[in-house]
Amino acid sequence: MMNNKPLKIGVFDSGLGGLSVLRAIHELLPNLEIIFFADQAHVPYGRRQLDEIRSFSEQITAFLLEKDIDLLVVACNTASAAALKYLRQQFPSLPIVGMEPAVKPASQQTLTKAVGVLATPATFQGELYQSLVQKYGEGLQIFQDTCPGLVEEIEAGNLSGARTRTILENALYPMIKKNVDTIVLGCTHYPFVLERIREIAGKGIQVIDPAPAVACRVQMLLEQNFENRIHISSDGSLQFFTSGDPLVFQQQMKTLIGIEGTVHSILWMDGKIQIP
Ligand code: DGL
Repeated sequence: MMNNKPLKIGVFDSGLGGLSVLRAIHELLPNLEIIFFADQAHVPYGRRQLDEIRSFSEQITAFLLEKDIDLLVVACNTASAAALKYLRQQFPSLPIVGMEPAVKPASQQTLTKAVGVLATPATFQGELYQSLVQKYGEGLQIFQDTCPGLVEEIEAGNLSGARTRTILENALYPMIKKNVDTIVLGCTHYPFVLERIREIAGKGIQVIDPAPAVACRVQMLLEQNFENRIHISSDGSLQFFTSGDPLVFQQQMKTLIGIEGTVHSILWMDGKIQIP
């Protein structure tokens, strides 16, 4: 039987970061149905072991598949580093868009041949990042920083507090001294402090947020995989789930991306998602 339902995608992150990706997708494809999952019970992912992140990611994907998604966006560099390959093996018929630090575009844009990358420890440890550096890092100086505590500050809503500023200064000043002209945001939480980063880095430094490129990739994959359904009209409804506090998430979402919507609560028990 031919499926003539509107297209629906799932987007997940450890927390609020994925909203920077959701915003870009929703701007580009306002009629697309999106289910967003924030695993705030486990945020930050960045300091966890890769196999633990892989297990969370597998369960979240299975949960979203139960909700009938046609495509998945892993809107988290850390989960992509830990689980993208594995998810593609486990769910071979699901098109998946992952995130990777934008080392390739940075290598094409930099004039000073010095690039800064901000990402979590788990992202830097993963094979995905290593392979990007091997492929595109030749002739480049790459300076990395894990911005310890920044994801927590963003989750707490401290986008411009003194602690956030200090974390960013500690990360950026050494890179600026090394003459970087391009900084890659390798964590989806960081676009929410883009203005702070620009203030510290100054005008001469480009900052790359990969969210618009990810949105274009989603559009391309939907067109390739669902040619017959891409034009089925939909109301572009957005649905949100968090394993944290839904009321807090609702407020955060409004502040960060100006979207209002109902947020459902998710519970983890013994390492498994409890289906409500
Ligand atoms: N937003 C995530 C990323 O892109 C994860 C941050 C975290 O949970 O440590 O890496």
